[in-house]
Amino acid sequence: RSIRPLVAGNWKMNGLKADLAIAAQAAKGYDTALKQAVDLAICPPATLLFAASAALIGARIATGGQDCSTQDSGAFTGETSAAMLADAGADFCIVGHSERRTLHGETNATVKAKAEAAQKALLVPIVCVGETRDEREAGKALAIVKKQLRGSVPDGSTGATLVVAYEPVWAIGTGLTPTAADVAEMHAAIRTELGRLLGKAEAAGVRLLYGGSVKPANAAELMNVAHVDGALVGGASLKAEDFLAIARACA
Ligand code: G3H
Repeated sequence: RSIRPLVAGNWKMNGLKADLAIAAQAAKGYDTALKQAVDLAICPPATLLFAASAALIGARIATGGQDCSTQDSGAFTGETSAAMLADAGADFCIVGHSERRTLHGETNATVKAKAEAAQKALLVPIVCVGETRDEREAGKALAIVKKQLRGSVPDGSTGATLVVAYEPVWAIGTGLTPTAADVAEMHAAIRTELGRLLGKAEAAGVRLLYGGSVKPANAAELMNVAHVDGALVGGASLKAEDFLAIARACA
């Protein structure tokens, strides 16, 4: 691998204090060999971010928010700023997850503003893109994802300040995954499009994660695809053993 892989767990709206035990178990299993091979991050709900960050820092497991405001501060009831996430210990922030795009009407412009807000707070945004089943069946998957990248990726991003996650919407939480060939085609296209947006040298360093029903049984196949530099894991990240098994598949 030319890029150090990243496996990020997105707990979504799951996790109470007692579930910090999952993070502790992941920290315990992140042994020297695994540390040498792969970066890990856990994105718990915002309520657990401070405690999770404190619990994981010793094991060198990063943390992240699942969303952030486009705004710095002020009268935005219920919102969480990127600076607040950073202050709570986060290193990353997922932005533009399909659940945010679909359920909260986030446009590419919103996602870009959130990614910029994250970068301003020195968080690395994990910008999510991906097509729906209808778009794939209509042969539009590549065009849709390229459009999302053009609209969502902050100008001037580098390999150090941006992660992109390709998550086909139809693969999220469904147990379905694209073929390795489809993932290869998409990730190569994403790398090329990032090259147009950021310059080839910078694009070469951006970690491209695959997400959507990644589990221990399919991780090795998916993680060995060219231009797949890790995984964004939903359901399976709620079991430390599965999360670690996926990490080992990247090593
Ligand atoms: O952010 C994570 C993805 O939405 C994938 O979720 O692994 O449960 O399919 P999943």
